[in-house]
Amino acid sequence: MNLKESIESVRNNFRTDSDPFPSDSKSIESLYIKYLGRKGIVADLFNQLKDVSNKDRPEIGKSLNQLKNEISKSFSSVVNDSSELDNIQEDLTLPGLKFPTGRIHPLQQTMNDIKSIFMNVGFSIAYGPEVDDDFHNFGALNFPPEHPARDMQDTFFIDSDTMLRTHTSNVQIHLMENQNPPLRYIVPGRVYRNEAISFKSYCLFHQVEGIYVDKNVSFADHKGILEYFVKRMFGEKTKMRFRPSFFPFTEPSAEVDIWSEKRGQWLEILGSGMVDPEVFKSVDIDPEIWHGFAFGMGVERICMLKYGIDDIRLLYQGDMRFLEQF
Ligand code: DAH
Repeated sequence: MNLKESIESVRNNFRTDSDPFPSDSKSIESLYIKYLGRKGIVADLFNQLKDVSNKDRPEIGKSLNQLKNEISKSFSSVVNDSSELDNIQEDLTLPGLKFPTGRIHPLQQTMNDIKSIFMNVGFSIAYGPEVDDDFHNFGALNFPPEHPARDMQDTFFIDSDTMLRTHTSNVQIHLMENQNPPLRYIVPGRVYRNEAISFKSYCLFHQVEGIYVDKNVSFADHKGILEYFVKRMFGEKTKMRFRPSFFPFTEPSAEVDIWSEKRGQWLEILGSGMVDPEVFKSVDIDPEIWHGFAFGMGVERICMLKYGIDDIRLLYQGDMRFLEQF
């Protein structure tokens, strides 16, 4: 058989092999390799071209090219399609892509909630120094010189008259020194205590202080505002009580407890009271004219109660497994 005849017979064989055209990519691939592969039938015919006489070579070369084009053409539509199919064959069992979004830390969320609840009833926000002197942190708040809170054990002193504030109540004094009443502020901020670190106490935490000074402010106003706060923060149906207490800077003083159904017990959430006349005197406000109430709450504590967190340290460790739950 000369090359011309071989070309014709390969054309016929391909027709037989490709009718019907294979449908799965494996058989398509082997058909392709058989005819058009580097060592395939068509390549073999091209090899034989060198033995053809110079005279016949152009013509036979031409018909060989034509055969090659014909065969390639019959693959082109299918090969393109099937290679596209191959690309789509993704492994659907692989985990999906993650697009992490930032979120607000639960402590900050709680802080934002507290702020917006009080701003809704006309409180403004004020800030004050975290490093302060004895007068603002203790003296003006009517702490007697021997009060245990002034002990090295509770307070981080910088020198004998300078300390990290132990509560945000120091800002009550700054506000009343700098402004004439009436005033109505909440003061969010960091406070520091030299305490052993455990599941329930940390050397640094946050408080929100509140102070309301005006003429004719009564204990009933104080109770009304705090009741409103508790219902907004913990839900309309939350049971609460005022329990008589003592703070040097309020008289009378009360702590507010909320009832926990889950634990079956009262939980303290804040301290409060009517501003003690001694405090007004230390900032030159006449207690015969002005009255007020004040309160202070631990933000960590409220956050932990609200979200059922049982260890304060979780709020400071930056563990993503914890934070992602909020
Ligand atoms: N300063 C108190 C504390 O750190 C909290 C507090 C209690 C603040 C009663 C007040 C208040 O303004 O009236 O424990």
